[in-house]
Amino acid sequence: MNQPFPKNFYWGAATASYQVEGGIDNCDWAEAARQGKVPTAGVLADHYNRYAQDFDLAKELGHNAHRFSIEWARIEPEPGVFDESELEHYRSVLLALRERGIEPFVTLWHFTLPLWVAEAGGFEHPNTVAWFARYAAKVTESFGDLCTFYSTINEPNVYATHGYLYGAWPPFKRAKIGPKAIGKADGTSDKTGAVAKFSHFFSYVKVERQLVKAHIAAYNAIKTANPNAQVSVVKHVHYFEADDSWWNQRKAAIARYFQTDRYMNRVQKYCDVIGLNYYRNTRFGETRNFIKTDMDWNAFPSGIYGALLQLKKCRKPIFVAEAGLADADDDLRAQYITLQLQAVARAISDGVDVRGHMYWSLMDNYEWALGKTKRFGLIDIDYETLARRVRPSAVVYKKLIEQYSEVE
Ligand code: FCB
Repeated sequence: MNQPFPKNFYWGAATASYQVEGGIDNCDWAEAARQGKVPTAGVLADHYNRYAQDFDLAKELGHNAHRFSIEWARIEPEPGVFDESELEHYRSVLLALRERGIEPFVTLWHFTLPLWVAEAGGFEHPNTVAWFARYAAKVTESFGDLCTFYSTINEPNVYATHGYLYGAWPPFKRAKIGPKAIGKADGTSDKTGAVAKFSHFFSYVKVERQLVKAHIAAYNAIKTANPNAQVSVVKHVHYFEADDSWWNQRKAAIARYFQTDRYMNRVQKYCDVIGLNYYRNTRFGETRNFIKTDMDWNAFPSGIYGALLQLKKCRKPIFVAEAGLADADDDLRAQYITLQLQAVARAISDGVDVRGHMYWSLMDNYEWALGKTKRFGLIDIDYETLARRVRPSAVVYKKLIEQYSEVE
């Protein structure tokens, strides 16, 4: 049988700084936790200090790539003041990966803003685009040859909807459309005490626009600092499909446009590669019953096929930057990953240029407004002792990587 995955395929997992590092107290999420609006992160997995041990595990698990984010608030704690020791820290992280033969995929911004940026108005402030580009340039210069793959922004639309429509995440702007307050079904919108206003909808539209500009400005800054860099945006694709009904088909097309194509149409020219995050699907006119993950999301890993096909239109190589599930008992994860990889293989056979697959997440982490309650990790973290335990499904992923990498 022909191996569907190309040689040199990147196999690995992903994390994000605020979700695993611990000890970050000068960003908007830390401030929101002090105000009691979101759970406190605290030490978490203490990945900031234990990254070498964690990368040993990733290597043992057969990974040859790893996606992680760097914390803007650590690197630029005051406007225009860069902390060289933090840049040095992240260089050590990159070196630790390289020493283990693991290719780094760095994300510059994964939802958390330095407090000074947030206090100035976050992405509503006209200068934030330029501040972000300045930070991107500084990081790229500092990392030099240690890093090739840079993602500018993680899930721009998810950030904008949660912060400016639902009011569930900083800056807790909840929008009203007509008389109805928009909110998240999991109740996180209500916990923050955000006041719903019509004007927040306009903030949302503005922030979405700013996030397009921020990507483009950072793309240019990174390429100037390192012409060899491979720059991407990481886009969340909720896979929308429909039964045969004309109206349902229209609904799915509209949802696909507003959630994905609209943003990608604006930025794809400024991407060397595109990162896909896939978690969820909606089929209008649905009749199937799905097993639910611990997030109460449909367990539908095969939906990644449709998400990849949707991004194929951008005509750029793609890597799966995140895909996975919360499953504390680890009883669904092995099967989930198996089906997910079959779907990625099918997309490749059907002409999608997929270069890598990063499972979310390497280890258990802080799931934003839901705190430490959700377990996405290939590695279980005991938050009392900080002990790491490899989940059985991680070994299944390892075997799949081996099988799919076999040279015929
Ligand atoms: C994505 C985020 C990531 C994680 C997963 C479950 O939307 O990028 O940080 O929370 O969802």
